This record gives sequence, structure tokens and C-alpha cells, in this order.
Amino acid sequence: MLALCLIVSLNCSLHQARTHVSYELKDDVAVVRLNDPTAKVNTLSLQMQSDLAEVMGEIWSNEAVKSAVFISSKPGCFIAGADINMIQSCQSSEEATRLSQEGQKMIDKIDKSPIPIIAAIHGSCLGGGLEFAIACQYRIATRSKNTVLGTPEVMLGLLPGAGGTQRLPQMVGLPDAFDMMLTGRRIRAEKAKKMGLVQQLVDPLGPGMKPAEERTIEYLEEVAVGVAKGIVDKKVPLTKEKSFKEKLQDRVMGLSLVRRKIYKTVSEKTQKQTRGLYPAPAKIIQSVQAGLEKGREAGYLAESENFGKLVMSQESKALIGLYHGQLACKKNRYGTPEKEVKTLGILGAGLMGTGIAQVSVDKGLITILKDTSEENISRGQDQIYRSLDTKVKRKSMTSFQRDIVMSNLSVQLDSTGFQNADMVVEAVFEDINLKHRVLKEVEEVTPPHCIFATNTSALSIKDIAAASKRPEKVIGMHYFSPVDKMQLLEIVITDETSKDTIAAASSVGIKQGKTVIVVKDCPGFYTNRCSIHVLVELLKMLQEGVGLDRLSDLGTSLGFPMGFPMVVDEVGHDVSLHSSQFMLSSYGSRYGGADTDVLEVLVERGFKGRKSGKGFYLYEKGKNYKKVNHEAVDILKKFPLTAPPSVSSDWDIQHRLMSRTVNEALLCLQEGVLRNPAEGDIGAVFALGFPPCIGGPFRFVDTFGADRLVSTMRRYEEVYGDPFTPCQLLLDYAKDPSKRFYN
Ligand SMILES: *[C@@H]1O[C@H](CO)[C@@H](O)[C@H](O)[C@H]1NC(C)=O
Ligand SMILES: *[C@@H]1O[C@H](CO)[C@@H](O)[C@H](O)[C@H]1NC(C)=O
Ligand SMILES: *[C@@H]1O[C@H](CO)[C@@H](O)[C@H](O)[C@H]1NC(C)=O
Repeated sequence: MLALCLIVSLNCSLHQARTHVSYELKDDVAVVRLNDPTAKVNTLSLQMQSDLAEVMGEIWSNEAVKSAVFISSKPGCFIAGADINMIQSCQSSEEATRLSQEGQKMIDKIDKSPIPIIAAIHGSCLGGGLEFAIACQYRIATRSKNTVLGTPEVMLGLLPGAGGTQRLPQMVGLPDAFDMMLTGRRIRAEKAKKMGLVQQLVDPLGPGMKPAEERTIEYLEEVAVGVAKGIVDKKVPLTKEKSFKEKLQDRVMGLSLVRRKIYKTVSEKTQKQTRGLYPAPAKIIQSVQAGLEKGREAGYLAESENFGKLVMSQESKALIGLYHGQLACKKNRYGTPEKEVKTLGILGAGLMGTGIAQVSVDKGLITILKDTSEENISRGQDQIYRSLDTKVKRKSMTSFQRDIVMSNLSVQLDSTGFQNADMVVEAVFEDINLKHRVLKEVEEVTPPHCIFATNTSALSIKDIAAASKRPEKVIGMHYFSPVDKMQLLEIVITDETSKDTIAAASSVGIKQGKTVIVVKDCPGFYTNRCSIHVLVELLKMLQEGVGLDRLSDLGTSLGFPMGFPMVVDEVGHDVSLHSSQFMLSSYGSRYGGADTDVLEVLVERGFKGRKSGKGFYLYEKGKNYKKVNHEAVDILKKFPLTAPPSVSSDWDIQHRLMSRTVNEALLCLQEGVLRNPAEGDIGAVFALGFPPCIGGPFRFVDTFGADRLVSTMRRYEEVYGDPFTPCQLLLDYAKDPSKRFYN
């Protein structure tokens, strides 16, 4: 092994200097420090791996070194995972398999180290970082809230490919290992200790002469060096005596019958949850099973081959694309605003206004919530208090912190404090005259730099800005309900909106924890332009006699989180009616196809969807499952439409829904409403529930093929006309097969 290490180190020193890993001897302990100078977090990149191999080669060949400590110099990060770019640059599954095998080998060497190695973990220890840590002989973690351990690979459609599927079950037992790998759950230090992932915890330090992070890392190092010496002196045992319960558990897991039962249960559960649309979970189970039933060698092989297959899968590419897109949408692409928004005024304490206040005050903004109704503001205040109190109950916040946060919120009937507002978001009733009045009142009482943001979904920002003295400060901020749960914020700009206003609105949105896309003003903006097509097409299909349950299944089997008719029930039939009429009047026949009179009748009958207890389905409080509302079905039958069988197969139903939506997304890019495909995909996934395994409308076109989509749409166009006319951008892509939205 020694010879091998030396060869590795020779190879490395030939082409690259050591930049990511350094070490220092403290008596007979080698303290190995990880620090990637080119990035904010450490990853197991090629450079990191070769530096590590080189350093370990030196350490292992130095007889004076009796133990080693791995520690990161990065605040808040041990190793955040593998290098995604390295994985993405693989051109074939064989190449990805080799990458996995190299990782397995490197980490196996750590596992078989002749001297004990201690992983001293502060901050994120995820993916490849965790696989690396669990190969060490001992782990110490800080009790900091920044310290999280986990194997999130499944969320990128991958599996832990550096021995993790083999080592983790040995370490924490089969059920916990499956739970970690199949959910990607992040585990806090305390829990990690209970599970047996780490052996020891240390408390983080507060700030002193140096910042808290630095002091914590130094202290952690001190403890780890002590433990390393203790292990060498046999004062600290490497293996803990197992408890009776643990021994019993081992015995039970030793029975192949029990293991088989677990594989079966877990497989069935994941199959149900993924509907077979996400290949990674099954491959994780398979890799674990191979190792446990046929030995480590077979396990490593299964793991690396499965990893290779997953890296090349469409699903993983889609998920990784979304991951990159989301990172980009959580950065402010418009620079730092001239004046940071510190005080935020919110008008309207309805569901939206209150939700916006909640996510703002929570993130350190001074928040003023104003409404004209006493009842509404006190209800708003209650709701915000309760949401914070839930955090106290879950121990993610102390009651003291809750009270300080609440002290930054003021709920009121007048405009006190608005003279200090840097931004005002209005969420008042959707009426242009009311919005104009509100805008003028706000401009009266706020300073000249104050931004006016409107949460409208039906009015044009340009029309609202027409009443403004400073239209460059007017912007749309389209939140989604419920605000605290929905990740997306759609910022809407006009030609007059200034860059600084966009920068300020983006920074507020990002601070509120949102994934932000920026689109140009147009009726429906981006997200509603896409979603209303689904609504109209769905209604048309119901009128054509497609059953509710069949429509529901066809949606979920594509990967939508909820059956389409249930989505309409959630949105509300009154809202649907209003939105579809609005889009029809704005864009004409492209939004046609269904007979919206049917919605009118449904609304008249009080079938407004979930909120009224009746929609397409019947809802009962406290019950999640719902029965078909036969009265609504009878109403649908009174507005029949006919569809030829040539466009009515299951596949056609799915692709009629898809193609209309996807075409509209492309049209938005063509018109410059969207800035780029990535924001379009993020918007569709996070606002419409577009299936993550497909990755969004633009990735769908890349995968499905633009020419194939055009010919599919032409077939529907023959029957239904305009809604299925492919846009110019799609036609251009169809003509040139080398054109893709993603490379
Ligand atoms: C109070 O809130 C409700 C529900 O959000 C809304 O219907 C009502 O108009 C509001 N009242 C006032 C006076 O704003
Ligand atoms: C309250 O607002 C101030 C001013 O923006 C901020 O510095 C402080 O952190 C906020 N407090 C909390 C608990 O968020
Ligand atoms: C704010 O945006 C939401 C989401 O589109 C919408 O439902 C609501 O009507 C908008 N306006 C107000 C006044 O809340």
C-alpha cells in the first residue's frame, strides 16, 4: 500500500502543486487541514483527492506519526460533498463507474489506515464528505446548528458512490441507513451521536478575541488531537461496548429472513412514492443488498455500476439542472442595491400580506403590517406569533428569540413608521382604482427612495405604475400561497423599472428565503401563462368525458405531485374562472378550447373547490381522502365536447397537457418575458409542480426532441387549432437538431 501511495504522490507532484490540503505535526499527531482556496465550500474534487492522497502518503510513510486528525479550515463546512461538475463531465456510464471506483479505493485506504484517523467535523458533512468521514476510525462533531451530516445524493438522482452504500448500514444499521440514503435527510450532531454516526460531541464556542467560527474550529482541533493521543495510548477505546439492545438488533439483522423482509418493505414503499419515475432509490437498495448478501466486493461493484448508470440518467440530469438553477436563483444577479432594505411596509393583512410579513420579520426585516380592519390585523398578528411559536415548540428557536423577532413586527391601522420604509409591498384587493389610491397614499408618506412592490396576479404592473410619481421604483412581487411554504417568488418588471429597484427586490426575496425569477410584465406573467393552459385543457378533457380519476392518475404518473382535478379544487373554481377568462381576453384563442360557462355553473352551485368543501371532489375536515362529487360530474355532462379517439389515448391526454404548457413557456422566452431557460424551468417546477424528474419545460424539449414535439402538436392542432400551434422558437429548434436549451 505504501508503494502505491508513493506512486500516487509522485504523479501528483509532477503536474500540480498542493493547494487544498496541508498538514502540521503536533507531537506525534498529524493535523490535516482541508481548505479549497477556489471555493466557498470544500468538495471532494479531483484536486482535493490527489492532495489528500499525497499528504496521506507522506504521513503513512513517516514512522514518527502515530495518528492523524482531519479538520476543515472553512467556516461552517467540513466537506459539502463530491464535486458535481466532476460528476457531470462524465461522458459515459463507464467513465462515471470508474470515478466511483477511484473514490471507493481512496476511501478504502482511509478505512484500512495503519494509524487511527479522527474526523473532526464542524459544519456540513454531506455526501462524499460523509462517506469519507465514516471511513475514519473515529468521529467528533460540534453541536453547532451548522453541523449537519447526511447523504443527499438521492435528491440529485444519484447514490453515495464512494462506499457509502456499504459502510453506512454497518455503522447505523439497515433501517437508519435506508432512511438516510433514500430521503437525503440532514442529521444534526446530537441525533448523529445517538445513531452511532459520531462518537463524541463538543460544544461550539461563542465569539471572543476571535470570531466564534474560528474559535470553535481551534477548540475542536484541540479536542481531536487529545482524542487521537488517547486512542494511541489506549485510553480512548475505538470500539464501544454494545448495549444489550444493540446486540439484540445485530442478531436480528443477522437473519437473512429479516433482511429480506426489510428490502421488500422498503422497495415497495419507495416504488409507491416515486411511482417508478426516479431510478435512484431502487439502485440504492440494490447496492446495499448486493453488499450485505454477497460480500463487500460485490457490493462495491454494484454501487459503482449503479452510480455509473444513474449519472447518465435523464432524471439525474434534470435534478442536477434544477439544483444549479436554484443556486443561481438564490443569488442576486442584479448586484447590491444602493440602499439595503431594512424596513418593509406591507399593506393588507389578508392571507398573502400576513404570509409575506411572516417570512420577512423572521429574517431580520423590520416589518410593518397595515390593514383597514382591526379584525384582520389582529388575526395576522396571531398567525405570525403562532408560526414562530411552532418553532419554539420544535426547539429551533427559543421563546426569548421569538419575542425579539415579534418586537420587530408592528401591526397597525395607520401609516406610522412608513416614513422609514425602504420598500412597501401591497397585497390589497385586485382592483386597479384601489391599487392606484393605495400607491398614491404610499408615495405621500414614504421617502423618495422607497420602492413600491405590488403582489398582483391579474393586473399589469405598467398600469399600476401609471399613477406613480416614480415609476422606476414600481415593481411586481408575485408570491405564491401559502407564502411560507412555496419557494418561488416571481418578480415582474416593466421597461421603466430601474436596475437598482430590481436589485433591491431580489435581495428582499432572497432574504425571505425565496428562489427568485425575474420576468417582464405581461398578462399572467410567466407562471400563470403556463398554468392556465393546464387548467383550460383539463376542463376541456372533463367536458370530453375523461373521468376524474383517470385524469388524476395520468397527471401523477407523469410526476406531478397532485392529480390535476385536485389542483383545480385547491386553486378554487371561482379563481380558475376569473383567470381563464382573463387570459382568453388578453391572448385570444390560444387560451381557448374549454367552455368556461361550466365553471360559472359550478361556482353558482357553490362548488368552489376545497375551500367550500365541494369541488370536483367532496372534502371533509380532517380527512385527506376525497370522494368524487357526482353533482359536479353531472354539471360537466351538460356541457359536452367531443374528441376524436386519435387524440384521446392516455399518452395523448398527457401530451396535450404538456405540450400546451411547454409551448407557452417557450413563447415566453421568445418574447423576452423570460431571461433564460433555467429560470423558466425553476418557475415551472416550483410554482406549477412541474415534475422535477423531467426538469422543467425547456429540459423537456431537449429530452423529448423539438421536432417530435412539433409533429405531436401538429396532430393536436388539426383537431383543436390555435392552442396547439407551435411557437416560432420551437419551430427553430425543431429545424436544427443541434440546438438545445442545455448543453
Ligand atoms: C379581511 O380579510 C378578509 C380575508 O382575507 C377579507 O375578505 C376582508 O375583505 C378583509 N377586510 C378588510 C376590511 O380588509
Ligand atoms: C430586528 O431588526 C433589526 C434592524 O433590521 C435587526 O438588526 C435585528 O436583527 C432584528 N431582530 C431580529 C431578532 O431579527
Ligand atoms: C397576490 O398573489 C396571489 C398569488 O397569485 C394571488 O392569489 C392574490 O390574489 C394576489 N393579491 C392579493 C391581493 O393577495
